[in-house]
Amino acid sequence: MTIVPVKDSWKNGTLLTRERYLDWYRRSVEDVEGFWREHGRRISWIKPYTVVKNTSFQPGAVSIKWFEDGTLNLSANCLDRHLETRGDQTAIIWEGDDPEDSRRITYRELHADVCRMANVYKSLGVGRGDRISIYMPMIPEAAVAMLASARVGAIHSVVFGGFSPDALAGRMEGSTSKLLVTADEGLRAGRKVPLKANGDRAIEISAKAGHQVEKVLVVRRTGADVPMVEGRDHWWHEERERVSTVSEPEEMGAEDPLFILYTSGSTGKPKGVLHTTGGYLVWASMTHQYVFDYREGEVFWCTADVGWVTGHTYSVYGPLANGGTTVMFEGVPNYPDAGRMWEVVDKHAVNIFYTAPTAIRALMGAGDGFVARASRKSLRLLGSVGEPINPEAWNWYYRTVGEERLPIVDTWWQTETGGILMTPLPGATDLKPGSAAIPFFSVKPELVDGEGKTLYGAADGNLCITDSWPGQMRTVYGDHERFEQTYFSTYPGKYFTGDGARRDEDGYWWITGRVDDVINVSGHRMGTAEVESALVSHPKVSEAAVVGYPHDVKGQGIYCYVTLMNGEAPSDDLKQELVRHVRNEIGPIASPDKIQWAPGLPKTRSGKIMRRILRKIAEDDFGALGDTSTLADPAVVDDLVENRQNRK
Ligand code: PRX
Repeated sequence: MTIVPVKDSWKNGTLLTRERYLDWYRRSVEDVEGFWREHGRRISWIKPYTVVKNTSFQPGAVSIKWFEDGTLNLSANCLDRHLETRGDQTAIIWEGDDPEDSRRITYRELHADVCRMANVYKSLGVGRGDRISIYMPMIPEAAVAMLASARVGAIHSVVFGGFSPDALAGRMEGSTSKLLVTADEGLRAGRKVPLKANGDRAIEISAKAGHQVEKVLVVRRTGADVPMVEGRDHWWHEERERVSTVSEPEEMGAEDPLFILYTSGSTGKPKGVLHTTGGYLVWASMTHQYVFDYREGEVFWCTADVGWVTGHTYSVYGPLANGGTTVMFEGVPNYPDAGRMWEVVDKHAVNIFYTAPTAIRALMGAGDGFVARASRKSLRLLGSVGEPINPEAWNWYYRTVGEERLPIVDTWWQTETGGILMTPLPGATDLKPGSAAIPFFSVKPELVDGEGKTLYGAADGNLCITDSWPGQMRTVYGDHERFEQTYFSTYPGKYFTGDGARRDEDGYWWITGRVDDVINVSGHRMGTAEVESALVSHPKVSEAAVVGYPHDVKGQGIYCYVTLMNGEAPSDDLKQELVRHVRNEIGPIASPDKIQWAPGLPKTRSGKIMRRILRKIAEDDFGALGDTSTLADPAVVDDLVENRQNRK
């Protein structure tokens, strides 16, 4: 296996040398409280904390609190405290979908706009503890809406702009949002996305389910003529003129909720992951600084949409907490062509570039010419996140994009973890392509086997974390029992990540992928149960089973086995109709890649679908189907294999 040793140039001026990492890590696990008592001070507190850590992973009593008696305001940390020293520094560089469109916003300007939006929220009757759903394109106003929510002490729930009205409705109901912040339309690869129309539809759906969204704040993006409901809907550009640029930040407790972010799990509807204020911000700012070795004045570009946790922590909160300059990109990697990312890197002199393997693979497929067109000379560090990166993609990123001069940090984490938990550190860690290397401060990873027995040394197993860290999620919004059940009941006393991992002989960590019924499509989490329930909501479908299968660009694709109602005839048209149906129910990211007609599904005698077998068939791995004798009807499998081979 190749190892890329730390280069001297990566060590130059780094904050974390190998010695310091080892020293700090030891202290961070041996004296957790002392470590965070010190590092918690990196952010500004209104009332300093005296209690640092108060956490329990014990089943029935799971409770996670950090810095609990401290008070602060997150938006003041990201804005007000920088005004004196860097008011005129660029906070956000916005790059539009159209390469001609870009904007730079200083800390002073961002602060003024956030104050204005906070005042608009208040004028709409939204404040402390209220929930705000944010359904926006990647424009600065999305960050403004988030920061303003934190400023007034509200709780935001950002819903990715690619989700359907149904998915948005479910999230607005789940969080009982009072306000929806949206835009007239979004713009992606030159195509318009009808956000306001989707929002209207979602509000109707929610109303039928008994939840009324009271107000809608609409940002003008494309200037489309969208209907406004009198008394309910308000234009941001009009309200903005009516309010002042002064807004006192609310004094919040460290454990007051900051945001809810819905994410897919193995079962049921998406869960509202709840993060609170103090610990999350400390973790966001600490990881952003040390993992990326972020240096004063650098331009940081995380390509993630704010609809995902990566966009929360590393497009908005981490960089702004550290007084950095962050790039927000509205478009997609291959528009107008596959050279766009590198063009943007040159245009805005980006120093740190953080993206997902799926984008790297897609750009790799487009050929090296697009990369060579840009100088990329500003780049100092590359990052990867969201899914395992295959060695081929890693090598291309390292050699072609980075010209073997830039370190790559392959960062492993989850919506639940708030920020990065395992990663190489650029000035401290030799790199192994595809390995997330070593744990960040206070992170205690452990491998367990199926029975929960701890594995030592080089081993393969299920990845747990045995103690809390400040950025950890606190609960599933409104359902603490589900929180305990999902994360702490499989291996009692430990946080179970849902991922499989391997620790090698050097102690490096390799994430091998989900071991539950979650699949990772283009770096986005998708619950197979969600896609199944979308499929069976179609009148012609009687049953469906969904699994992931290896996909060259997306990492995993969505493979659906569908059983039709009696009397319904399979056809290609029906396949397309089902694809459309799932897109309408969830959104384009859930589009089935393959649908296979299944006269029957392999089930145990107790009726449980044997997904293991379905995964093997989807992977074309017929030799490894394992024992099928426990199936209620083993012949079903032969049918499926035959259909698969005939590509029906
Ligand atoms: O399976 C892991 C994978 O993405 C999952 C978390 O997805 P989500 O909550 O949407 O957050 C994505 C961005 C943090 C994990 O359980 N994953 C994330 N990063 C990596 C990864 N798998 C391998 N290597 C990574 N660097």
